[in-house]
Amino acid sequence: MSRHQPIRVVKGMRDILPPDSALWGRVEHVAREVFRAYAYQEIRTPIVEVTELFARGVGQDTDIVTKEMYTFDDRDGSSLTLRPEATASVVRSYIENRMHERPGVKKLFYMGPMFRRERPQKGRYRQFYQIGAEAIGSESPTVDAEIIEMLFVMLNRLNLQGASMLVNSVGCAQCRPVFIERLRNELEKIKDQLCLDCQRRTVTNPLRVLDCKVPEDQPLIESLPVLSGLLCEGCKQHFDEVQSYLNDRKIPFVVSPRMVRGLDYYTRTTFEIVHGNLGAQNALLGGGRYDGLSEDLGGPPAPGIGFSIGEDRFILALGSADNAESSVDLYIAWMGEAAFRHAAELARELRSHNVAVEVASDPVKLKKSLEIASRLGAPYVLIVGDDEIAQARYALKNLSNSEQQTVSREELFQRFAGPAS
Ligand code: HAM
Repeated sequence: MSRHQPIRVVKGMRDILPPDSALWGRVEHVAREVFRAYAYQEIRTPIVEVTELFARGVGQDTDIVTKEMYTFDDRDGSSLTLRPEATASVVRSYIENRMHERPGVKKLFYMGPMFRRERPQKGRYRQFYQIGAEAIGSESPTVDAEIIEMLFVMLNRLNLQGASMLVNSVGCAQCRPVFIERLRNELEKIKDQLCLDCQRRTVTNPLRVLDCKVPEDQPLIESLPVLSGLLCEGCKQHFDEVQSYLNDRKIPFVVSPRMVRGLDYYTRTTFEIVHGNLGAQNALLGGGRYDGLSEDLGGPPAPGIGFSIGEDRFILALGSADNAESSVDLYIAWMGEAAFRHAAELARELRSHNVAVEVASDPVKLKKSLEIASRLGAPYVLIVGDDEIAQARYALKNLSNSEQQTVSREELFQRFAGPAS
């Protein structure tokens, strides 16, 4: 027995293991292809940022900033935070690298881990992954429609069924304050019946009451006014145009007037995609416009819109059905030292043609080799022994029907590596 207790993964964090990791890789690969088709380029920002970025960007009174951030003092006393999301970082980088000086809309995408210290449950982790995109530099509703179209292309290409999109407009710096005042007045009347957080939010940031998750508060929240009736002319027209462009593209959506999203930077268009397979954490992705964020972070006017897919939830929603892809094309079993050398040489040659090959690491009985190969999901096993080397012909066993045939080296390469170029 070991003298030590085994060390376990941090609560709310997890390992992504094979074969699931192959599905993660596939999702990221398809996302990259679609981003490329829509002229988005990759940005990689640090995982750690100064805490003030999120306090100012995401909002002082959001759940993320008040309760969920991993914040620590660096050795020089500055306060740093593991990024809870990436939009604020992308806009920081946009400003810092003077991207506004280059013409056109900047279209950027990212993939990577985010950190929020939430209560872990199915679909909710403390380290989770997002695939996101941001288009910065235009307030045109055409950009909203294009980014949502891109999202639909991505979901379709990944065969995601059963998702629905909710859209809303949360107004702008002109019309939102009018709504907030109205909301505050209504909240004052019912505040004593709400949870303590909402009582505080009534004073500090009434809009945040609308995304309270406490079940007892929900009937009261349902009775509060909605913003749609109070949108200013500009916001109303913007929202109408977004909807009409989405209709042109035959993208199905439902207007959801109570959706405010949990981050303070949003203006005008907001959207979420929810999925039935996910239980309580049903938001697969979220996004929206943030026309004032750059200025809030000390930058020039730079209206933008983006979204982030929760990759963990996306994988859960896909289910394991299309996870069947095997990571190995061919397993080579060998008998004897000379056969091992021969097998290693064959494997090197096949691998140089991008065939995924696994070679048995130890001399084991054929039966055991077949077992290992089938556990790996290899569709074929090649058997190499002294006789096979002498005749330059190998036994190739198809594991799905147990049929075995003899193939020459040439036939082997023809079958697995394709015609010689
Ligand atoms: P968000 O709604 O906070 O938006 O997060 C986006 C998605 O990340 C959620 O819909 C969910 O799928 C996933 N997610 C969030 N928290 C967790 C968690 N603890 N565990 C697993 N998945 C989680 C944003 O982050 C914005 N930056 C989106 C955006 C981009 N808006 C404009 N541009």
